[in-house]
Amino acid sequence: MNRADTAVLALQGSPRLTGNTALLLDTFLKGVAEVFPQFKTECFNTAEMNIAPCRGCSACKGKEGCCIIRDDMDQLYPLIREASFIILASPVYWWHMTAQLKACIDRFYAMDFSSFRGKGLGFLATFGGTEADSGYLIARGSVLSMARFLKMEFSFSFGVSTGERELRDNPDVLQKVREMGRSLSLTL
Ligand SMILES: Cc1cc2nc3c(=O)[nH]c(=O)nc-3n(C[C@H](O)[C@H](O)[C@H](O)COP(=O)(O)O)c2cc1C
Repeated sequence: MNRADTAVLALQGSPRLTGNTALLLDTFLKGVAEVFPQFKTECFNTAEMNIAPCRGCSACKGKEGCCIIRDDMDQLYPLIREASFIILASPVYWWHMTAQLKACIDRFYAMDFSSFRGKGLGFLATFGGTEADSGYLIARGSVLSMARFLKMEFSFSFGVSTGERELRDNPDVLQKVREMGRSLSLTL
């Protein structure tokens, strides 16, 4: 792919629009933009979108050939297909990503799985516990399995605890995340 055409799609799942996860993702994307400002980057918060849960009707696998639900996924499907890199970002809710982001991912089921092959996939998470096993590792494992199934390149995963201090009060982590964003650009 021509680097000028590289599209990064970020899907965020926190209902707190200016919370820790939003800041984590924003900082990461700033790092990406510093190195390759020409990348087309789009960021959506699934918590603000109208995305119905998958009905499991499998119409998408039959003669319909696409999801029969008409909602904001109509906007995301072409962007998902076009993206060369997908970043998922979520707070940990009950040992997993939020339902808002999960609903969006479930709807990937309607897509041609081969369209994911070779795309990069990254995961960013915040969590309130002080240990990574308070849910981050489970969510990460799920994203890793998804990458394997879809034959995507699992490029990075990063989780940060916000239990003792909010991310905005953690400049060292913010700096690290920005650097991660800068180095992501090099792998594209
Ligand atoms: C409904 C709910 C469930 C949560 N479940 C967990 C959990 O299982 N493990 C954990 O470490 N933190 C949990 N947390 C804490 C959040 O992950 C943490 O506060 C996170 O930084 C919030 O991110 P945000 O500011 O982007 O919303 C939970 C918070 C809420 C509101």
